[in-house]
Amino acid sequence: MRKVSVMLKSDAVIGETDPRLFGAFVEHLGRGVYGGIYEPGHKTADKQGFRHDVLALVRELAPTIMRYPGGNFVSGYNWEDGVGPVDKRPRRLDLAWMSTEPNTFGNNEFIDWCRLAKIEPMLAVNLGTRNGDAARNLLEYCNHPGGTAWSDLRRVHGWEQPHDVKLWCLGNEMDGPWQMETKTAHEYGRIATEAAKMMRWIDPRIELTACGSSTRSMPTFGAWEDEVLQHTFDHVDYISLHTYINDYAEDAPALLAAPDLMDSFIEEVVAIADSVAARKHSSKRIMLSFDEWNVWYRTRRDKALRAKPGWPVAPEILEEIYSMADALSFGGMCISLLNHADRVKVACLAQLVNVIAPIMTETGGPAWRQTIFHPFAQFSNFGRGRVLRAEVDSPTYAANYHDPRGAVDVYNHYPLPAVPYLKMAAVEDPGTGAVTVFALNRHLSEPMPLDITLRGFGTPVLIEALQLRHSNLRATNTKSRPDNVSPTALKDVSLAPDRMRATLAPASWNMIRLGRVR
Ligand code: AHR
Repeated sequence: MRKVSVMLKSDAVIGETDPRLFGAFVEHLGRGVYGGIYEPGHKTADKQGFRHDVLALVRELAPTIMRYPGGNFVSGYNWEDGVGPVDKRPRRLDLAWMSTEPNTFGNNEFIDWCRLAKIEPMLAVNLGTRNGDAARNLLEYCNHPGGTAWSDLRRVHGWEQPHDVKLWCLGNEMDGPWQMETKTAHEYGRIATEAAKMMRWIDPRIELTACGSSTRSMPTFGAWEDEVLQHTFDHVDYISLHTYINDYAEDAPALLAAPDLMDSFIEEVVAIADSVAARKHSSKRIMLSFDEWNVWYRTRRDKALRAKPGWPVAPEILEEIYSMADALSFGGMCISLLNHADRVKVACLAQLVNVIAPIMTETGGPAWRQTIFHPFAQFSNFGRGRVLRAEVDSPTYAANYHDPRGAVDVYNHYPLPAVPYLKMAAVEDPGTGAVTVFALNRHLSEPMPLDITLRGFGTPVLIEALQLRHSNLRATNTKSRPDNVSPTALKDVSLAPDRMRATLAPASWNMIRLGRVR
């Protein structure tokens, strides 16, 4: 491949990352909670039943916020079922995942788990089978100090201090026909507005997210955002986006190109939100909450894997085993989020444990890192700061990506005529001046000679250079080979005044951290 050149200027900045850009998601779904973060009796479990082997991996992964309890699950959830004495909590059919929900883990246990993990909770309210009334009661239960029925109930349940939850989602994917009590944009816009008003009257400090389209491929995408924001504009802070990249076509170049569609998706939602603002003569800017994103396909279309007969508790569903190729596409998604740090303020990797997750466990056994764990841990630990605007000169290739329209087997086709082989982001730590480069070489067979000019940075020093690659794009991490796909040293990096050169292996994800000599 010919040389790929990049220009980074210290004063060309896209924006500062919000700490909440590095979130994840725990849903009552499969073994996400039961057998995932919570497994009483497990040899690493504490007295609350929290698995500490999982917690150790969560700390290494370093998510900053955690969305809960769904997802599709929340659209049929009665939050009251999950609080109070555990032996009195009801078992219920969960129609989202055709399972039985035992409710032995609920809101208060989740908050305790977040505190232990030092993660900010992000709660979703049920605007499917319920409405603003249940939402305001949950908020009063969580955030009101005391002296009212709901807040005193929390105290009786053993949580004297308010949970003080700041981030809230007004429902989940309310346009999806798979959702319990799907809504039209008008119906949802109205109910979300009324819920938001009441919630803010109780606690004006909260931040609220309205549901955007379930995916960019939905036939109503665009019109949905427009109408929902016309209703909710004055009452919410964020609009949500969800994307799951697939490789149904078994087309690795398209899989690796697909994160570029996330860039277009973000830019389209920004345009719609700002056009609503313009029509309202408002200078307010609605920010974006990308509160579900990942690669997901193997366990998505196969209904046998999505629902097991007999209404089981915590069935082994959506347990996607991620490959090396998936990790590359996933890394591309991290780069897309960073390069839109000016508008995407919240994002949640969906999900955390077992269910389309970076962490896998065996019930009663060990926990290990999936391939996608590694790009996320690097993105979260080293991607915080000022995102620099990279001017990239890279050869390109053409790809065709096919995305299902929600849950049906009808595809939208996205031709991508000019995909740069290099996808990258660069983030400067404002405290130390260190610059971290995240770089994806999407060429499957050729190494990439990368030449970065760092204007205004002086002579860089190398802190660390890591690559994620494997000779087999289908390689995975398993219980018996948990480190099969893991980062190794990237050796071929050279530095000169205002310059960094490296050779990136074919089909590789790379992180290069450069310190600054002041
Ligand atoms: O993350 C899995 C599911 O994907 C969520 O429950 C839903 O919101 C989305 O469709």
